[in-house]
Amino acid sequence: MSAAALGASIVAPPIPARIDTPSVVVDLDRFEANVERMATFLAERSVGLRPHAKTHSSTAVAKYQLEHGALGCTVGTLRMAAAMADAGIDDLFVAAPVWPDSEETRRLRDLHDRVRLTVGIDSAEAAQRIAAAIAGGSSRLRVLVEIDSGERRSGVTPAQAQAVAVAASKAGLQVAGVFTHGGHSYRGPGKAAEAAVDEVELLGEAARLLEDVGIEVETVSAGSTPTAHLSARAPVNEERPGTYVFGDRQQVYLGGCAGDEVALAVAATVTSTAVPGQVILNSGAKALSKDKPGWLGDFGTVPAYPDGVITRLFDFHAVLEFPEGAARPKLGEVVAVIPNHVCPVVNLSRGLVTARNGVINGFWAIDARG
Ligand SMILES: Cc1ncc(COP(=O)(O)O)c(C=O)c1O
Repeated sequence: MSAAALGASIVAPPIPARIDTPSVVVDLDRFEANVERMATFLAERSVGLRPHAKTHSSTAVAKYQLEHGALGCTVGTLRMAAAMADAGIDDLFVAAPVWPDSEETRRLRDLHDRVRLTVGIDSAEAAQRIAAAIAGGSSRLRVLVEIDSGERRSGVTPAQAQAVAVAASKAGLQVAGVFTHGGHSYRGPGKAAEAAVDEVELLGEAARLLEDVGIEVETVSAGSTPTAHLSARAPVNEERPGTYVFGDRQQVYLGGCAGDEVALAVAATVTSTAVPGQVILNSGAKALSKDKPGWLGDFGTVPAYPDGVITRLFDFHAVLEFPEGAARPKLGEVVAVIPNHVCPVVNLSRGLVTARNGVINGFWAIDARG
């Protein structure tokens, strides 16, 4: 499908009538289907699912995922891990570099004592600092060495991973395997397949190199929503997609979900039509975030009005521009905006309104922002 056709394939979930706007609304039918589809796909391949909670930052959603096939939870910070642990979630992987200072040291020790904690590392220095932080604990802390499979964010090469793993073992940590995030799948439509191959090959090479020095590799963890379906094969035995729970506009372009699987929309009201050629929605940057991948020129889409383009965002205003003569919403009309990237939208919100068939039936607090 062409990029234009992919964009046009987005079908917004129904927005409840008389909703306070802007609000972030989750369609439960689509959400539940997304959770189920990923869990089933991975279970059929004997690959574990450890979803990244950064998409929802909600203990309620994390628990739902655990009740529906997830083996544990991935988080981005020790604070987020603490929020999940406080909610009773007891198998947590911090998939980001950790450098414990005084407060983080206390948090790390506390989490290590009360849950099955795993932490990502990509340097001997971090390994030694983490080991020092938990010195005296009753068991060895599990760590996974992060491999850079092409994103160029954090992580090391497979050869460097061997040295990091040896240093971590010497420092007293339990090196349990390797992980990567194929984030280069986000560089534009059509990039996911290659990124998935990089994930599988580099993780495989790193795992072999760890085994060569006598390390027992339990976990080989890959993870991004665009690549999750493509890298779920040996030696990968765990996937950590996050965005798949809700989907968003960019996932439709990247192959991470179909246009009618996007489960989350921002309900927004047309608050001004004073300036010709455009309408103003009350879902400004404080609702939609300014997240815009380089390959997408605008700030979200309103599927009911496909000719509209969200060209500019101010804190409280989204400018939806229309070509001459195109159908546009009226003053006071409520529309569903599909955001480019759902994670910052959720993070900015007070919570998520849940709805089934367009009828509000609940609210999920964003209680694990971290
Ligand atoms: C380390 C790590 N794992 C997993 C994920 C989940 O990826 P996605 O947002 O594509 O679902 C991310 C996303 O940022 C990540 O950084």
